[in-house]
Amino acid sequence: MKRLAIIGAGYVGLVTSACFAELGNKVTCVDVDAAKIQKLQRGEIPFYEPQLAEIVQRNAGAERLAFTTDLAAAVRACEVIFIAVGTPMRADGHVDLSAVRAVARSIGEALNGPKVVVSKSTVPVETGEQISAIIREHAVEQHPVAVVSNPEFLREGSAVSDFLHPDRIVVGIEDSEAELVMRQLYAPLDAPLVITDVRTSEMIKYAANAFLATKISFINELANICEHVGVDIKLVGRGIGYDQRIGTQFLSPGIGYGGSCFPKDVRALEQLAVEHDYPAPLLHAVEMVNRRQVERTAARLERELGGLRHKTIGVLGLAFKPNTDDLREAPAIALIRRLLDRGAAVRAHDPIANAPARALLGNDVAFCEDMYETARGSHALVLATEWNEFKSFDFVRARPTMAGDLVFDGRNVFDPEVVNAAGLRYLGIGRERRRRGVRTTS
Ligand SMILES: NC(=O)c1ccc[n+]([C@@H]2O[C@H](COP(=O)([O-])OP(=O)(O)OC[C@H]3O[C@@H](n4cnc5c(N)ncnc54)[C@H](O)[C@@H]3O)[C@@H](O)[C@H]2O)c1
Repeated sequence: MKRLAIIGAGYVGLVTSACFAELGNKVTCVDVDAAKIQKLQRGEIPFYEPQLAEIVQRNAGAERLAFTTDLAAAVRACEVIFIAVGTPMRADGHVDLSAVRAVARSIGEALNGPKVVVSKSTVPVETGEQISAIIREHAVEQHPVAVVSNPEFLREGSAVSDFLHPDRIVVGIEDSEAELVMRQLYAPLDAPLVITDVRTSEMIKYAANAFLATKISFINELANICEHVGVDIKLVGRGIGYDQRIGTQFLSPGIGYGGSCFPKDVRALEQLAVEHDYPAPLLHAVEMVNRRQVERTAARLERELGGLRHKTIGVLGLAFKPNTDDLREAPAIALIRRLLDRGAAVRAHDPIANAPARALLGNDVAFCEDMYETARGSHALVLATEWNEFKSFDFVRARPTMAGDLVFDGRNVFDPEVVNAAGLRYLGIGRERRRRGVRTTS
């Protein structure tokens, strides 16, 4: 059992806190957001994440997990301190490290003994060294502090399970005693441990996200080409995915990647390269393909509907992916903004993200209680996020209530034949067929 302070009660910090408590440690989770901490103290979870409420409540009940805004007290009471605060993208594409720096300063000011300080936030190469320097600079007492990089690879929507059953754990560390602490902490998970120096570990996180984003932009680009040459991308994806060097995951085209990580991490890695006089053309292209994918979707809808002015578009799914209410960089939101800009009316539904989306988009969008309400009066129905419940959409039921006949499957989850059989036109990503010069969308 170790005493851990985890700074940041967001997706990463709260999941890390709850899971380390579940593994038997005594965890204090700290956040500057007093309202968030009060909610957590009442047993409420500030965002949607499957399994999280149960595990937080169980461990809080067992007094292994507590919440506070008092960072200094938590630092003084704990031997291991995790930094899990946000590292958002600044307007210029650089990483905003102000929260990480503020936490490092507070750790220094509260330093009362030897500590292991672990960065779980995604931070550019060299940040570990900066954290060390800031702690030293502000330390009221001098004590040994080992700064460790331990990037997080959990996915929102399956974060608890990902944390407890990781593919691997990466630890960047240059101190043998701290290495022992980290090995002990993660021993119960029985996962492969990749031990590196701090800089390498920081780079591994960016490399992982940049690679996954590249795979998505690659399949999106291929899908766009398939549309022109009458080939179904789904079959192409299967045909290449069984090759173990390629792998089946992340080969489904869509309207672009989003979320709090891929867009900012690709940008940050590109910025890092540019700062070191390497222009990183591949990363630049990955990002450009992604940005164009939403634009392309809006343009295809406009073309198919003969203009968007006075047209109603029903959008299914708003979160950046299923099983989360996170709207950060969600392509559905970017698409809706483009549709509104071009004069369309938008109806939308997400199983859990309607409320945060309303806060973002306001009254410009009609938020609907369910998917059939969304289809009602729509000239086109767009699937933007592939929540499971959308996959069994009953097109026969929806057809008579719709104002038009277009179904735009932004995640290629519907069967074109089922859609066509209901008297609707199907348009997917990379699934159009051209036969002898005649284009059909079935
Ligand atoms: N969300 C993911 O899926 C994910 C996955 C892997 C890695 N990451 C990385 O983990 C980090 C955290 O991401 P997140 O999604 O949990 O962020 P988040 O925005 O959900 O949460 C960050 C939390 O930190 C708090 N905070 C900010 N400044 C603070 C301070 N000075 N002291 C205490 N608390 C402070 C905020 O109030 C917020 O609650 C980022 O670097 C992100 O790139 C995120």
